[in-house]
Amino acid sequence: MRTQVAIIGGGPSGLLLSQLLNRAGIETVVLERQSREHVLSRIRAGVLERGTVDMLKRAGVGARMAREGQPHHGCFLTHDQQMIRIDFTEACGAEVMVYGQTEVTRDLYAAQDEIGAKHIHGVANVALHDLDSAQPHVTYDLDGSTHRLDCDFIAGCDGFHGVSRKSIPDTVRREYEKVYPFGWLGVLSETPPLHEELIYANHPRGFALASMRNPMLSRYYIQVPLTDKVEDWSDAAFWSEFRARIPDETAAKLVTGPSIEKSIAPLRSFVSEPMRYGALFLCGDAAHIVPPTGAKGLNLAASDVHYLSEGLIAYYGDKDSAALEAYSQKALARVWQAMRFSWSVTTMMHHFPEHSDFDRQMQRVELMQLATDPVAQRLFATNYTGLPY
Ligand code: APR
Ligand code: PHB
Repeated sequence: MRTQVAIIGGGPSGLLLSQLLNRAGIETVVLERQSREHVLSRIRAGVLERGTVDMLKRAGVGARMAREGQPHHGCFLTHDQQMIRIDFTEACGAEVMVYGQTEVTRDLYAAQDEIGAKHIHGVANVALHDLDSAQPHVTYDLDGSTHRLDCDFIAGCDGFHGVSRKSIPDTVRREYEKVYPFGWLGVLSETPPLHEELIYANHPRGFALASMRNPMLSRYYIQVPLTDKVEDWSDAAFWSEFRARIPDETAAKLVTGPSIEKSIAPLRSFVSEPMRYGALFLCGDAAHIVPPTGAKGLNLAASDVHYLSEGLIAYYGDKDSAALEAYSQKALARVWQAMRFSWSVTTMMHHFPEHSDFDRQMQRVELMQLATDPVAQRLFATNYTGLPY
């Protein structure tokens, strides 16, 4: 089989890339290890930057998001009993859209079906070959036999555990990593959200976050030690700990209910450079991971796809490879900015076991400056709502 762009991974990066390329008349094949149902069962963050929203609209998948998504004009940061509101509109004239990543993925699959894009699910042993030659190709196993897919380019959209990044030789690849000494225990519950805006809480007992999916579906998180297991946390224990970490007046309004999903995710910052090797271009989690505190994971995947789709469209349309040549450098410049923001919000909001009283004072004064200084608010709001592409 032959195609123009082989896309490894059918998560949000791979699907959005496939959608934009197909709409521009470029042929793709998406190779995904899991079933579609499995991909759609993953629960991930739900805050979309304006640039991501615009891209989804351009890709023809904005209709349900426009109907069901909730534009948010601000969020809260709390310090013990104090609620600090960051007004995005006032601070930087932008806003975000709260719309779950699972719904984005569902909309992308539906749109891909409509235009007849090619997806192959259930592939195993995907391997990338001859990346530094004029004949790159991919092999994979399906239904008991090995298949070969020839292509011009390969987009590595296969997430942190995928095969693409590891296909770049060790001598070329450089990885940067920071692992945080805690995880987030997340709970999804069919209850009305605590507040109409997100609340990020810094508390001596640890970080907490109140988020939402829709008027009857809430998403909550608490920071937990990495040694904790989901089975250790009953719903009652979760609600009691969550309530203790947010200001009393707000906690009094919390509506609790049974959890319909509960999981623990570790927090990590990770970047792999370069994001291109020969015919291979990495996108999204395959190249970088952010801790969820800044809600940047999906948004960074979208900006990578933006740069790569522009490069490929210029290559096939105008025979101009300048944008493709610039891909790694352009994508990484934005990735590092989002890395810094996600790391700084994580550092400001969490309880670190190794922190001294001095470190905790540093967190307090940083939050106090955000409470009072329009310049600090503008910087936070500009990063949270998304730096320009
Ligand atoms: N072969 C084929 N497919 C693979 C392989 C492989 N060897 N390894 C992984 N995959 C698939 C996974 O099953 C998954 O569906 O690649 C897909 C990668 O999807 P994500 O992990 O969602 O990564 P990405 O599309 O870059 O999305 C980035 O989504 O995952 C979140 O937190 C992440 O918000 C971020 C955004
Ligand atoms: C979520 O709704 O799951 C969510 C929102 C904001 C974050 C992280 C997760 O920063």
